Amino acid sequence: MKELFNEYVKSIDTYIMFRIKQEAAKLTPELTAKGRAPIALAMGAPVAPPPEFVYDKLKEALSIPQIHTYSTPKGEKFFLDAVKKRMKNRFGVELDAQTEIFSLIGSKEGLANFIRALINPTTDEKKQDVILVPDPGYASYTQMIKTSGGTSYGIALTKENKYMPDMYRIWEEMKQDGITPDRVKAMIINYPSNPLGATCTKEYLKHVVDFCKEKQIWLMSDAAYCDLYFEDENRPHSILEIEGAKDVAVEFFSFSKPYSMTGFRLGWICGNADAVSAFGRLKSTVDTGSFKALQKCAAEVLNSQQGDDYIAKSNKSFKEKQMLVINGFRELGWQIKDEDIPDATFYIWLPIPSKYKTSQEFTSDVLRTSGILLVPGSAFGKNGEGFFRLSAVADDQQLNETICRLKQDGFYFNN
Ligand SMILES: Cc1ncc(COP(=O)(O)O)c(C=O)c1O
Repeated sequence: MKELFNEYVKSIDTYIMFRIKQEAAKLTPELTAKGRAPIALAMGAPVAPPPEFVYDKLKEALSIPQIHTYSTPKGEKFFLDAVKKRMKNRFGVELDAQTEIFSLIGSKEGLANFIRALINPTTDEKKQDVILVPDPGYASYTQMIKTSGGTSYGIALTKENKYMPDMYRIWEEMKQDGITPDRVKAMIINYPSNPLGATCTKEYLKHVVDFCKEKQIWLMSDAAYCDLYFEDENRPHSILEIEGAKDVAVEFFSFSKPYSMTGFRLGWICGNADAVSAFGRLKSTVDTGSFKALQKCAAEVLNSQQGDDYIAKSNKSFKEKQMLVINGFRELGWQIKDEDIPDATFYIWLPIPSKYKTSQEFTSDVLRTSGILLVPGSAFGKNGEGFFRLSAVADDQQLNETICRLKQDGFYFNN
């Protein structure tokens, strides 16, 4: 067959996490035979089961008459009302359930369709619409932008700028790099961050809102990890808490990480009514919403004591796992200062040992030798090179086993 697929699709590979999984699957027999059966620390997917409460409510929902029929892309009224209540209780944010909230099949779907709704596709690189993305940042952003016919410009997140860069400075650098401001459609922020685990201050959120207002670009806040934090004083904020944010911002939320409901595929977008409406028009042509029974149990858990208790308990466990891994890497020679330990998420972001030229080389060696699945930092952008990401989501026995194997196999920082 001659090549009929479009240039954007031709230019991308299968998503990095699935490639890592495929490679591990291929190596499984060989690794198992040498006592190194794969340990999955690449994907950001909690392994603990969701709250019991969710399954109880799901079972109840299955016997509701007509539960099997199509929902609407927007989401059922009970779902939208539950989101409205959650946004009020958790962040003090007032939303109109009819015009400012829309259901999602996971936040990934929402991000991809929102990006698609913004970009005028072209393969002419000099004319492509631009979206500013965190670098390092969630690997899907750049791929979603690419397959929509646009291009991304990396906002460098560094230890020096405390992962909160001055956006006016970035704007000037972008112009020097040959991108004219009229091409920029939006900026994405993601706090707490994947892959860094970094959080930001409320003042920084205001800085970003002011910047997007001045430059007249949309602000997309990816809040997938907003409930994964370790200390109450570091509780992440919603962008919509900032006065006037609704003029320029939409925010993406997910049930995946806080309730370990990754496979349920549910989330929501909320914020600016015009943006939510444009997004909804596009989404309504490509999907027909989530299974009503899932919306029902998700709506119930969102404002329940059981849901909040579950989040508190799993955050405690994520903190313990984080320290288990950090202390293990310290024993392996990594110099990790207390102030550099993330306040949020289950991600651990560390430099690769100096004997490796690239992060890919390091993570491939660790997989082939020790059976540990890690993600090379380069997958998260230019500024991710030289680092790797580990998701401390496995059970403690596997995390201990990881450190033990790395020691036995000689993966010391300065070797
Ligand atoms: C930063 C970020 N945003 C969005 C997502 C998508 O999550 P979901 O589609 O499960 O809601 C992920 C998943 O890993 C993520 O890391």
